[in-house]
Amino acid sequence: MASASSLILVTGGAGFIGSHTVDRLVADGHRVVVVDDLRTGKRANLAHHGALSFAAGSPVELVVADVSHGLFAPLAAVTAAHGPIARAIHLAAQVSVVHSLANPLVDVAVNYVGTVQVLEYARAAGVKKIAFASSAAVYGDTPVVPVVEDAPCRPLSPYGVDKLASELMLGAYAATHGVAATPLRFFNVYGPRQDPSSPYSGVISIFADRARAGKPLTIFGDGQQTRDFVYVGDVARAVVAAAMADGGDGTAMNIGTGRETTVRQLAELIVGLAGTGVAISHAPARAGEIVRSLAAVARVQATLGWQAEVALADGLARTLG
Ligand code: NAD
Ligand code: UD1
Repeated sequence: MASASSLILVTGGAGFIGSHTVDRLVADGHRVVVVDDLRTGKRANLAHHGALSFAAGSPVELVVADVSHGLFAPLAAVTAAHGPIARAIHLAAQVSVVHSLANPLVDVAVNYVGTVQVLEYARAAGVKKIAFASSAAVYGDTPVVPVVEDAPCRPLSPYGVDKLASELMLGAYAATHGVAATPLRFFNVYGPRQDPSSPYSGVISIFADRARAGKPLTIFGDGQQTRDFVYVGDVARAVVAAAMADGGDGTAMNIGTGRETTVRQLAELIVGLAGTGVAISHAPARAGEIVRSLAAVARVQATLGWQAEVALADGLARTLG
């Protein structure tokens, strides 16, 4: 286990999942270095931790930098003053499947090269463990439901390919350089601070935002496609458990609830909770849409002792505020 005072690096720590992960680490007594270029992340997501500088007494130091350009220069001053990075949580990424289809080179640069940059830093700096945000998108439209980690991976998007390539590189560094690593394949994460403002945003953030504002919800396709929606607080708990556990040879673990919800059921739940009586309409299905997505969760339960605790209705109520 890491001592409570050791430095933990969180790339993408100013984002949605990252800021909840930082909250959990700080609650556990850690000092956290966030590297984030703020392309989608916000200082406001971390503002409750003060000035975001160790020198000013905050438990969080924010370093604004692009991970794909390397971590040695951005981390030099903070590690010289406060000691080495003990463990790393790599969340920084371009997160949209749809965006990656239109901009594959951006995805490779941020999501694949960014991971290799984190690994190169970890190798040189003696980081003990890396927890990595992979994705259910590595599976593609698999016929295996619920999907086990050993199912064939046939990603349908550059995003899924770059996450899978990152997982393989983590495994190679573990085998060759002894950098312990655990990739976590997140299913559909939702909760407070998820940004609804882009057309690529997560469906729950969009539906919650529109239902609160009294605007109609649009379902792409017939709404019978399913997702495994997992609450961000549960995900942050899994990420921290993976980062703090010693060992890890690059074997990936699903992070989901093991429960499947159709997009239609989701829309109806949100309309009911918001109480604004908004309409639900339909638009054509997205190209390359995955029809069923459901996690098998036995591996993470057996390895990290983790399971999701927040039921969808409770998590949606917290998200709607
Ligand atoms: P987010 O956009 O809120 O967080 C990503 C963070 O990374 C942002 O703060 C952004 O500014 C930062 N970032 C992006 N590119 C960067 C770069 N080159 N250098 C430094 N910082 C950079 O999204 P999120 O939903 O919190 O996603 C976090 C991680 O979880 C990502 O790796 C994403 O692929 C993964 N993931 C998310 C979901 C989901 O449902 N939200 C599902 C599967 C996997
Ligand atoms: C999401 C994540 C991705 C992650 C993957 C893992 C986001 C933005 N993307 O992709 O990072 O790797 O899960 O499983 O969080 N939909 C509507 N109406 C809308 C918006 C979406 O019907 O207004 C539907 C979509 O067609 C889809 C479902 O909702 O069927 C979920 O879409 P979305 O939230 O964009 O996530 P994924 O594509 O599953």
